[in-house]
Amino acid sequence: MNKNGAIGFMDSGVGGLTVLAEAIKQMPDENFIYLGDSKNCPFGNKSAEELVNLGGDMLRFLESKKVKCVMLACNTMSSLGEVLYRDFPFPVYRIITSVADSIEDKNLSAVGVIATEFTVRSGVYKEIINKSLPDCKVVAVGSKNLARLVEDGDLKSPLIKEEIKLSVDKILTEYPVKDIMLGCTHFPFVMDVFRSLYPDINFIDPAAAQCRYLSKMLKQEDMVNQNGGSLEIYTSGDINAFLNTANLLGIKQADKSATININEVQL
Ligand code: DGL
Repeated sequence: MNKNGAIGFMDSGVGGLTVLAEAIKQMPDENFIYLGDSKNCPFGNKSAEELVNLGGDMLRFLESKKVKCVMLACNTMSSLGEVLYRDFPFPVYRIITSVADSIEDKNLSAVGVIATEFTVRSGVYKEIINKSLPDCKVVAVGSKNLARLVEDGDLKSPLIKEEIKLSVDKILTEYPVKDIMLGCTHFPFVMDVFRSLYPDINFIDPAAAQCRYLSKMLKQEDMVNQNGGSLEIYTSGDINAFLNTANLLGIKQADKSATININEVQL
């Protein structure tokens, strides 16, 4: 693999942009290619077989772009494990690998997780958190509609409030946690709604820890690029809607003179 090749990012839609924004901040000299399959979003209500097929198409697309590695910026696809990516010639990093890093220092005795139904059913959050914090109680609840509502782009919709209340109240009924982790990359887009509804709860976005992990892996593999700074975005959905969301996060190319290079792709 060529260290000047791009880092591929993939998600079911706009969600992974929350991780990409952090990655650009931490690694401004890397080239990034982001692929969001908005046409098929949400992934969290699909079967494992459907996800392996959709994810496989996305990885093949990124392979054709000669990426040096791929960051699965999607908890749902990450929870599939190796079956998704074992046949590809580049390293694929799962963002969930580092979820415990954002809570380890706090030595929590209990933590809530809100994620997609698929991610929660896979049990992966509990497994990874309990590997580093065996005594931490993990209360994970799946949200059926939140990822799609965020993808639709009306972040002020009352439906978003209702969906958040449904999931958070379910967690709190099971156990009075003080900290809740956002286990789906779409959810940090509505962090302010979470915080305004539950001001006494600490909501954790694991994106920063996830990007530190990616950066550590690149150093470890001697794959750091010091001459890049470009960003290409591909979506199977509507380009303008995607661009609006990317702008919400202040995502821009390191080359400040250029606008984001965004393209439509058939998946
Ligand atoms: N953003 C993805 C995740 O982190 C998937 C959401 C979805 O499409 O259901 O799980």
